[in-house]
Amino acid sequence: MSSNRIEIRPVTPKIGAEIFGVDLAEPMDAATFGTIHQALMDHLVIFFRDQNITAEQQIAFGRHFGKLHIHPAAPSLPGLPEAMIIHADAKSTYANGERWHSDVSCEDEPPMGSILRIHTLPEVGGDTMFANMYTAFETLSPPMQAFLSGLTALHDGELLYRGRYGAQDAGRVYPKATHPVIRTHPVTGRKALYVNSFFTARIVELSSDESDAVLEYLFQHIQTPQFACRFRWQQNSVAFWDNRAAQHQAIWDYFPATRTGVRVTVCGDRPF
Ligand code: SIN
Repeated sequence: MSSNRIEIRPVTPKIGAEIFGVDLAEPMDAATFGTIHQALMDHLVIFFRDQNITAEQQIAFGRHFGKLHIHPAAPSLPGLPEAMIIHADAKSTYANGERWHSDVSCEDEPPMGSILRIHTLPEVGGDTMFANMYTAFETLSPPMQAFLSGLTALHDGELLYRGRYGAQDAGRVYPKATHPVIRTHPVTGRKALYVNSFFTARIVELSSDESDAVLEYLFQHIQTPQFACRFRWQQNSVAFWDNRAAQHQAIWDYFPATRTGVRVTVCGDRPF
């Protein structure tokens, strides 16, 4: 894979870019890695089309970006714990990622990024939305930015995972962690809003009523259409998003049709 064929086309001014001229099945040289990594830093989510790759090749691609994450609750492909299964069909009672979130933010060191390939699609529907959390922070008023910058929030895996995967999970302990409400991206140095409606249970320094009110406002603010892009999948599309600066939401509008893919998730650092 060589970097001089790569073309990057933004999909909105705020978030998302399609990357052309890359075959994720091929070995990746340093220049190509640099171009893809920079595109991810600039656009927060990058999209590749027609990537007919195996889960092993997807894992090998992910390893260029860091150690791979094993999900604390979700099923994975047999023998490949790094390959999380994303699946919904006529028997499903939930689909992965239906509300705005940053992946597994309930862990002390939440994932840096996630690489999702969808190989089985409904005829129509099943898009994924992505939103820019730098912009979510930057569009708040300076007093609100200052107020939130002094706060931390509890992210609790229990809220999402308990009973979700049909497993007998009595006695199982799901991760929980406290993170700054506004985090600083370790690569870009930019500040991003880091609370989400899947995992953020409460703001630690506020009373319960105050926390509920502030979180309700922030969860609504995150959904501002101008912060977002909507990705329409094709068979073998791949999306790679930066969980430190973006949130996403999968749209389950295709029931009872089937949508299936594999997610490879790259480990991250403790938010600061
Ligand atoms: C997820 O949150 O990883 C699922 C995203 C999707 O299915 O589009």
